Parts: sequence; C-alpha cells; structure tokens
Amino acid sequence: MQTEISYASLSGIETELLIVLACDAQTGKGPAARPQPELLIADSAVNAAAAAVLTSGEFKAGANETLLLHAPAGLAAKRLLLVGLGKQAQATVHSVRNAAGTAVRFCKPRGIREVVLALPEGFVNGPLPAVARAAAEGACVGDFDPDTYRSDRKDQSVQKFTAVAPAGADRAALQAAFAEGVIVGESQNLTRTLVNEPGNKLTPTELGQRAAEMAKEVGLQCAVYSTEKLHELKMGAFWSVSQGSAEPPALIVMRYEPEGVSDGPVLGLVGKGITFDTGGISIKPSENMEKMKYDMAGGAVMIGAMLAIALLKPRVRVIGIVCAAENMPDGKAQKPGDVQTAMSGKTIEIINTDAEGRLVLADGLAYARQLGATHLIDAATLTGACVVALGMVNAGAFSNDDATYAKFDAALATSGEKFWRLPLGEEYADMIRSDIGDIKNTGGRWGGAITAAEFLHHFAEDTPWIHLDIAGMAWVEDARPYIAKGPSGIAMRSILEWARSYGA
Ligand code: BES
Ligand code: MN
Ligand code: ZN
Repeated sequence: MQTEISYASLSGIETELLIVLACDAQTGKGPAARPQPELLIADSAVNAAAAAVLTSGEFKAGANETLLLHAPAGLAAKRLLLVGLGKQAQATVHSVRNAAGTAVRFCKPRGIREVVLALPEGFVNGPLPAVARAAAEGACVGDFDPDTYRSDRKDQSVQKFTAVAPAGADRAALQAAFAEGVIVGESQNLTRTLVNEPGNKLTPTELGQRAAEMAKEVGLQCAVYSTEKLHELKMGAFWSVSQGSAEPPALIVMRYEPEGVSDGPVLGLVGKGITFDTGGISIKPSENMEKMKYDMAGGAVMIGAMLAIALLKPRVRVIGIVCAAENMPDGKAQKPGDVQTAMSGKTIEIINTDAEGRLVLADGLAYARQLGATHLIDAATLTGACVVALGMVNAGAFSNDDATYAKFDAALATSGEKFWRLPLGEEYADMIRSDIGDIKNTGGRWGGAITAAEFLHHFAEDTPWIHLDIAGMAWVEDARPYIAKGPSGIAMRSILEWARSYGA
C-alpha cells in the first residue's frame, strides 16, 4: 500500500471516494439526550454536502457506522463516505484507528483502490500527529484479508492511502508520525500473515526461515537453531515438546543492536511458537482443533515486533527469541508422568502434555537471561483458562515487577490494545509443586492462567518480567468493520511501545 499525506483543500480533491469522520456531539442529558452527528472537518462545502443526511437522523455517527453519498454537490469527489467515531467525549485516537480500518474495509469489496481520508481537524482527544499515526495503522490493518489459499482470490488490496491534513499543520511532525504508523501497521500484518498460515505450510523450520528473511531485509542479526543446539544448551523442557514430532524444532534468535549503545537495559522478547498443538499424548478433542495452528501467535508477535524495532530504531538493545515446535502424539512423544530437566536445571513433572507452551517458554526465558536480557517479556496463547477469565475482550498480563509493568501499562495508552493485569502469588506457586521433582506443568483446574504464569515465573526468576497470555485474543472470531475475521496480531503494538520506552 502506497501512502501519502496531502494538504489539499477537501472540496477540490478529485477522487472516487472522499472519506470524512464524524462524531456524535450529543445534545441534552438523560432522557432529553439527542444524537447530534457532526463532521470533524471545517471545509464548508463538505459540511454542506453532508448537511441533509446529518439532520435527517439516518446517520448517527456511531462507532464505525458508515454512510455513503453519491455525487455530493459542490465537491470534486465522486462519492463521500461518512465514518462514525461514536460519542465525542469518548472518541480517541483509537477510534480514529478503527475508523480508518473501517474506511479501507468499506472500499475493498467495492473495487475502490485509492482511499482518501480527511484527518479530523482540531480533534478531540489527541494531537494531530498521533491521529495521523493511528489512521495509518488502522488503514494497513484494515487492508489485510486471510484468504491466502483461495484459488479465486481477487486481490482487493488498496493501492494508495492518502490522509488529508489541514494546510496549517506541522508537516514534519505529521509526516514522521504517519510513516511510523505505516511501519507499525505493516509489522502487525507480518505477525498476522504468519499466524494465518496452516500448520502444514508453516512448520517450525519454515517459521525460522520467515524470521531469517525478515531479519535479512532490515539488517537484524538472526540465527535459527534446531535439535542439536537444544541438546547443547540442555533445553530439556523445549525439546520434550518437539520430541514427538517428525518436524524438528526451531530456536529462533533475532538481535537488534543499535550502534553506540553498549550499556543500559537489554530487552528479551520471548514468544511461544507452537506451529500446531494437538495436545500431544494428552490429545485435544477434535472439535476446534484446527484452530491450534495459531498456537504460534506469541512467536509471530515477536517477529513482527522485531521488524518494527529494526525500522523505528529505538536506542536500546533487544533480543527476540521464538521457541518453535509442533506438539504431536507419537511413539517418541513425551508422556504424562515423565520428568524433564529444563535448561535452568529445574526438574519438571509432566502432568499434561497439552500444557506445552510453558515448557518451551521455560527454556526460552532461561536462554534470554543467559544472553544477557535484563528485562523480559513473553507472549503466548498459553491457557484456555485465561479466555474463561477475560473472554475475548482483554488479554491477560502478569508481572513480577511493578515498575516494569508500569511501562507496559503506559505503552497500552499508545497501542490501544486491551490487557488486564492478573495476580501472581506464593499460594499459586504452591499449586504447581511436584512430589517427584521441582515443579509440575499443570496446577489443576482453578486459576489455570495464573498457575501457568507462576510456572514461567520459576524461569524468569528475579529478572523483571511480563507475561502476556493472548489465547483469547490472537484470533478474531467475528469480523468487525475495521478488521477481518482471523489473526489479530494482538500484543505486537504494545510490546513495541514498551520496548521503545526503554530507548527514548
Ligand atoms: N494452546 C493451548 C491454549 C489455548 C486454548 C490457546 C485456547 C488458544 C485458545 C495450550 O497449549 C493448552 O492446551 N493449554 C491447556 C493447559 C492445561 C492442559 C493445563 C488448556 O488451557 O486447556
Ligand atoms: Mn496445549
Ligand atoms: Zn498450546
């Protein structure tokens, strides 16, 4: 997608479709409240063209509501599309991100290849550069569709996205923020492309190749190791998951080392990369098992984040690690009751081979620490229990360090992604004590997301660490106006902003 900022006057722009945003500046309170849709631009010709439909009550400017006008009087554009942001008081840059996505997804099936969107002027809750950045992100994210393998697939992607800004805007700041938004949106789409791939196409080896390709393009160091290296590093927990599969595991290590930065924090990003999770010997029911191709979403998030980091160049060192394996039942597969020795030396009693994500992450976290990471963040589609707790609205977050978590919380304000912090605690850690070894890999039914986090805590130890459980959020189950059904790319933007906060 080509992108550009224009400072032309809105009414004079010759285009198939001009898009303007509107919000509901509700009048009156309580039962007397009346919706009052208003355009978020000043151009008098555009306002005149939309005046009748705004007063008619046909369009209420609800979030992502759209209304199309043909041959708008007084405008050079052939059509005018209104996109709602919802109530004015609650409209934020995040509403703009979604509205831009909605605009792009409106255009795609209608064969409109050039999207021209007027950035809201004097906008409510956010400065114009932040608005431009969010719009660029939303447009990129909206342009993604998951139908990769449809033989009659028509390429409906938008060729050009133009954001129109007021002539008096600070052009340098606007341009920089807009370009950033494109990088972020495209990095999120890389994550989504990987998550979307089926297990037969995207094996651990293939995931390693895709990461290496990305790294080569943007000048990141990247090494992809397999079985031998796992044995050499004594990664008994990681290896135990892969041992039942004909597909070899992949340990992907990406490094970002900005010039002139030789001290300060080293961030360790660790992702769960299970390219297919059958459950292993503790096999899953067949209903919905096909979804388990997205069990590598945490790993894909780290690959997308490393891409954005390489392009946005924060002044902080970052190591990205993806632990990729396929969890299969087989004559060589691990069994419940087996005891494995992790890289850190801790022994793990396997209660359920379907609790495999924590096993690969245990060694990934230990390895990140060995490579010098001073701060850790992991992302994983780790537990169904997290989905039970938070639904498909918030992803789960955990941390052993409030200061580190505070930086993540601040990152959420920029990313607009929804995470909810859940507790850790000794009592939960007690639930995964093993009779035969140090810990067991499941803690029973109650508090399953938390005991999983406590399992990881054993391997993060006292290094400041954040754990993100994205099981309920990695896949969008129902299409929304601004994002296709399918892989969401959740956590990429927040991890990126968190990382950037160390290198500002
Ligand atoms: N990959 C699953 C978790 C999952 C569930 C991801 C739903 C996405 C959607 C994970 O490996 C798993 O199987 N977890 C088990 C753990 C249990 C055996 C303690 C679970 O949540 O049931
Ligand atoms: Mn599993
Ligand atoms: Zn899994």
